[in-house]
Amino acid sequence: MADNVIEVEKLAARFGSRTVFQDVTFEVRRGEVFVILGGSGCGKSTLLKLLIGLIPPAEGEARVLGNPLNRLHGRPRQQALARIGVMWQQGALLGSLNLMQNVAVPLEQHTKLPREAREAVARARLGLVGLGDAATRLPAEISGGMLKRAGIARAMALDPEILFLDEPSAGLDPITSAGLDDLITTLARETGTTFVVVTHELQSILAIGDRCIMLDKDAKGMIAEGNPRELRDNATHPKVRAFFRREVLEQKA
Ligand SMILES: Nc1ncnc2c1ncn2[C@@H]1O[C@H](COP(=O)(O)OP(=O)(O)OP(=O)(O)O)[C@@H](O)[C@H]1O
Ligand SMILES: [Mg+2]
Repeated sequence: MADNVIEVEKLAARFGSRTVFQDVTFEVRRGEVFVILGGSGCGKSTLLKLLIGLIPPAEGEARVLGNPLNRLHGRPRQQALARIGVMWQQGALLGSLNLMQNVAVPLEQHTKLPREAREAVARARLGLVGLGDAATRLPAEISGGMLKRAGIARAMALDPEILFLDEPSAGLDPITSAGLDDLITTLARETGTTFVVVTHELQSILAIGDRCIMLDKDAKGMIAEGNPRELRDNATHPKVRAFFRREVLEQKA
């Protein structure tokens, strides 16, 4: 049997009376790079928040490492959260702390490591993302691509089993973005970490994704699930085909 780290069953998200999506069912297997894709406003970030337990589902259930995180409280919740890392879409580093200190923040919150040990771990994480030489720089002193990599290093501070990244390559030039894709693929392979990545960059999806789901605002749910390259070659749903083949859909009047 596959080793699933995330299991989502008939999940629905609602704000007030407005349904963002419903009937979302999928699983994420240990060690894979799983991509959540779809146009702006279809609910990708909302799905991440549901997975992490920041908002409760309107229907259904999402289990991460065996637990519905929204139903855990207190110490069990802290312990479960320490096993996952998150880089939010707007996830900014703290401007007054250098990169090493930023990466050390989760270690300070979740471990009893002394300062020297925290800093050594933080430096090692920065090394993993290619920022070993920038440990003492402030966030304002590095480029956008470096900021993203530092954000990943911070999300990896506690050596998580699952790393959630919301639009890691948004706003980056294509070359920097491709570099970030390489980093994600390498980290997945070398650390065994499972990645759940939100993106709508087709090149990234094809480069990094083992499997993906596609959400759609009009369908209010999933319109595709599978290997991105197979979806590109075989999908029959018009919107899925359009996305993967960069076709222009005829607008319905
Ligand atoms: N806290 C909230 N209260 C009310 N509506 C919300 C809330 N959060 C998100 N929404 C709405 O839910 C829908 C999905 O939002 P979400 O941020 O998940 O989209 P997204 O797919 O991540 O989009 P993008 O690609 O632009 O980041 C949007 O219509 C948004 O306005
Ligand atoms: Mg979003």
